[in-house]
Amino acid sequence: MRERLAERNSEISSFYVMELLRRAKQLEAQGKDVIHMEIGEPDFPTPPTIVDAGIKHLLTGEVKYTPAAGLLELRKKIAAFYQRRYGVTVDEQRIFVTPGASGAVLLALGVSLNPKEELLMADPCYPCNSNFATLFGGKTKTIAVDAASGYQLTARHIKEHWTPATKGVLIASPSNPTGTLIAPGELKRCIDTVNTMGGCFYSDEIYHGLVYGTDAVTALTVSDNVFVINSFSKYFGMTGWRIGWLVVPDEFIEATEKLAQNIYIATSTLSQYAALAAFDENTLALLESRRAELAARRDFLYDNLSSLGFEIPIKPEGAFYVYANCKKFSDDSYQFALDFLEAEAVAITPGKDFGSHDAQHMLRFAYTTSIDKMAIAMQRLDRFISK
Ligand SMILES: Cc1ncc(COP(=O)(O)O)c(C=O)c1O
Repeated sequence: MRERLAERNSEISSFYVMELLRRAKQLEAQGKDVIHMEIGEPDFPTPPTIVDAGIKHLLTGEVKYTPAAGLLELRKKIAAFYQRRYGVTVDEQRIFVTPGASGAVLLALGVSLNPKEELLMADPCYPCNSNFATLFGGKTKTIAVDAASGYQLTARHIKEHWTPATKGVLIASPSNPTGTLIAPGELKRCIDTVNTMGGCFYSDEIYHGLVYGTDAVTALTVSDNVFVINSFSKYFGMTGWRIGWLVVPDEFIEATEKLAQNIYIATSTLSQYAALAAFDENTLALLESRRAELAARRDFLYDNLSSLGFEIPIKPEGAFYVYANCKKFSDDSYQFALDFLEAEAVAITPGKDFGSHDAQHMLRFAYTTSIDKMAIAMQRLDRFISK
């Protein structure tokens, strides 16, 4: 019989954490108090100013398509945000409003990656970005990274692994799952290296804004010849609204517009009007207080996991994850996560969802829940590893 499923499906990985989620739901249905530390979105609601702006617009009834690149007013606000936060000038014509960072990566790779071309990425990394390359017939070559380079690629890695098939490099800083940042000097060296090779540099900056005690540098301060992916999902608390943005180099503007028109016509009109309030002073003040809360959660989780015997080679500086080594307790972190959920009703994500490099020892704990809940989770973890 003719195979109806496209061949590429076999190359798209699915998440192991889904199995944990399925089981967590079953346990919850049985009345168990499951603590969720696997989820990549904080427990905070969308800021009320953003919700109000969305409701006000919805009541006008004018929810028609916007231009494919997004509302000009929103693109201007994003450009102004770059000026204010990073002191960098970005022409709004280079900014495309997208359905989340996911839509931004889809667009960026769609306009630039040819079949069989390769993308260099770190292992561990956020696997969906790699799956998008596969979707376009491209390939990802992951490079094992560890604490020595802050779990980030370096210019040396790029030079060592670059082949005629390489099209470019995709980094995420802060990284998911490690929460670590690329150093500004290294970011510049990486971008310079890729530009010298005539390749494309993609910088996933979705966790910018969620950085503690330091500041993240946008790739746009280094060069205009980069793709920058960002989103309203994480820092702005709008995961389910499905809105983000992409900044492209000048030469890609026209092609990106054409592709956006064809792939999704436009990002949700309602979400775009709501996001207009995202840069208001009072919204930003609320977001900054949330950032302080997340910093406290990071410290709490890092200290507790370390004192329980989990190895965390670098204290994460951003995002909302701690990537911890459980080799003192197990050589199979996936089984560890399954058993921990079963015994103590706490859900965490196994390392093999982010690559293969030492994945059997790694676990990602998300501090997307309150310190009170995490305190209970840590008591349960202590009991679990002490058995
Ligand atoms: C590194 C990274 N990039 C992109 C995304 C996609 O985010 P969204 O499409 O919600 O903006 C995520 C989501 O967790 C992520 O962790």
